[in-house]
Amino acid sequence: MSGPVLEGEGDTDYERYLNIPMLLRAPKPKDQLAHRDEYLFQITHQTAELWFSQILWDFEEIRRRIQADDPLGAARLVRRCVFIIKLCTEQVHVLENMIVWDYHDIRLALGQGSGQESPGFNGILNNAPALEDDYMALLERRKVDPFTVQTQYRDHYDLLELGDMLVDFDMYFHLWRQNHLAFVKRMIGQGQRSVKGYSVEALEKLIVGTFFYQRLMAVRDEMTLKSGTSPPGRPSQ
Ligand code: HEM
Repeated sequence: MSGPVLEGEGDTDYERYLNIPMLLRAPKPKDQLAHRDEYLFQITHQTAELWFSQILWDFEEIRRRIQADDPLGAARLVRRCVFIIKLCTEQVHVLENMIVWDYHDIRLALGQGSGQESPGFNGILNNAPALEDDYMALLERRKVDPFTVQTQYRDHYDLLELGDMLVDFDMYFHLWRQNHLAFVKRMIGQGQRSVKGYSVEALEKLIVGTFFYQRLMAVRDEMTLKSGTSPPGRPSQ
């Protein structure tokens, strides 16, 4: 067996290549944990930040591909982001394996730390809207409107694919937020304040109706209206 050939910290090329010693220093040292489940709490957040950073990295390439008139290439990467956000939604549930009363030992150690300060999450909030701007600009270059793309889709499969994938990302990001909100209620109750003092109710208000891609959503309204499948008039209560 030969020794490692890569530079870096660690005994093997595996550890050096993946920077494992640094990675394992990311959670608190075990002798400083407020509760033994704080380890689980920390790595759940840390892995989410890694995944969010992958989404942000892919956003850059998605924008480049749309601007280079490559909607199918962009759609492939948006699909990957959809997959990742679903994983992030799912992984929150591992924290259900923590006893609620034990969580309060951990909560005392959070200082003023809040998920609302998550750089990855805020990066998505700030950067996701530009993808729709790029998409609309591509439609303009091709002299086609969203309704035509959606209804005469055989002529515009590539644009249909990208538009629908963006809406899927929007939907699954929204579901991440809804899922997290329900989970927060499970953990700290419905009427309490976060460590920063906001109410759980305020978090709920923040989430209602927050889709990024209003123009892609509007074309769904347009299709329903023009299809005539909803009864006429204003929706009843
Ligand atoms: C015991 C588990 C958790 C609890 C009790 C909890 C609690 C909360 C609360 C109360 C808020 C409201 C804002 C504030 O803190 O001021 C919040 C927001 C947030 N948390 Fe968590 N959280 C938990 C797990 C997670 C995990 C695993 C992540 C993964 C990154 C996360 C990311 C976020 C984000 C991004 C926000 C802003 C949400 C939005 O605007 O929709 N949280 N969390």
